[in-house]
Amino acid sequence: MKGDQYLLLPGPTPIPERVIRAMSKPVVNHRGSEFKQLLTEVTEGVKRVYRTNQHLLIYPASGTGALEAAVVNFLSPGDKVLAVSIGVFGDRFAKIAAEFGAQVEKMDFAWGEAADPQRIKERLDQDVNREIKAILVTHNETSTGVFNDMQAISAARGDHPALLMVDAISGLAVLDLKMDEWNLDVVVSGSQKAFMIPPGLCFMAFSERALQRHKEAKMPRFYWDISSGLKYLEKGQNPYTPAVSLYYGLSEALQMMQEEGLDNIIERHRGYRDMVRTSVRAMGLKLLARDENASHALTAVVAPEEIGANKIRKYMLDQFNIVLAGGQQSLDNVIFRIGHLGYVRELDLLAALAALEITLQKLGWDVQLGAGVSKAQEFLLNKAKKGE
Ligand SMILES: Cc1ncc(COP(=O)(O)O)c(C=O)c1O
Repeated sequence: MKGDQYLLLPGPTPIPERVIRAMSKPVVNHRGSEFKQLLTEVTEGVKRVYRTNQHLLIYPASGTGALEAAVVNFLSPGDKVLAVSIGVFGDRFAKIAAEFGAQVEKMDFAWGEAADPQRIKERLDQDVNREIKAILVTHNETSTGVFNDMQAISAARGDHPALLMVDAISGLAVLDLKMDEWNLDVVVSGSQKAFMIPPGLCFMAFSERALQRHKEAKMPRFYWDISSGLKYLEKGQNPYTPAVSLYYGLSEALQMMQEEGLDNIIERHRGYRDMVRTSVRAMGLKLLARDENASHALTAVVAPEEIGANKIRKYMLDQFNIVLAGGQQSLDNVIFRIGHLGYVRELDLLAALAALEITLQKLGWDVQLGAGVSKAQEFLLNKAKKGE
């Protein structure tokens, strides 16, 4: 029996039953009082996850929509932008800015590495005329399983006036992120990651400083325009028809997140990361990210060259109904990615690790059954002993 699929992707993630039930409620008038209450409540709830008291808008789109919203609302064609990239999604943010006419300067780091805040600082120090208008950075690079230290990058910006724009689509509520305390100006995120709801909503929070810049920003925009978004939000509405059912799901998911507590959620994900890394290493496999910057959201595992990552993924899917993500672009067939964010339990990961050992042995890798699983078990036992 194949049973339910184990969706261990770094998004979309499994959806809790509570959220599924909440989304099945009848749709209400999106210009009526019930929706007003729902919108106000979820907007405040998502702001708490961002740890911000500033502005936040919700759009019916996948995360990339919010990246575009960030670019078009706060920049003008010809603006100089420093795009820090450590992988596929950093490149995407840069590409969007370039498409809309920004003068993009890329600062690339090797895939698998985190951005070096010192290099960012040095570049900004050279910008004596303060021409750089924004710095684009990925909080958690989903293509490599590496996170950037946003607090250190914000400190590296210092008093340079460039807006710090952060793609936290897969990082928010998985890794620490304190938008206001760390002076982040624009932070975008998506529903299908730690928020545990289906794809289709994205969030963009922005600082008061960013809002002031918006007033002079001239990039073409219509659907994403925060001026109309904010105007309608005051009335408890969206400018255009919102994805009402997803808002029900979001409301329930926020309730679940509040019950667990944001700090506990982040700690839980840290535990997943540590458990998976220690287990995979004991299977004799290499990890793409170093320990210091290894994501809480996913683990990128380097497949044995003689087997290839895609064969491993196929076997896991065919035999165990476990879905793992592949590598993107140059990492295709080189790595596979185990997603461990959102509504994932330790038990799911334990099962996936056991299945991985069987898969590896079947495909000819010299691994003793139990080598990695026992490490994960020890990890969980130690945690239980500490009473965590
Ligand atoms: C860090 C990051 N940025 C951007 C995106 C793009 O989001 P979407 O596919 O929801 O448009 C993703 C999706 O995986 C992501 O992980």
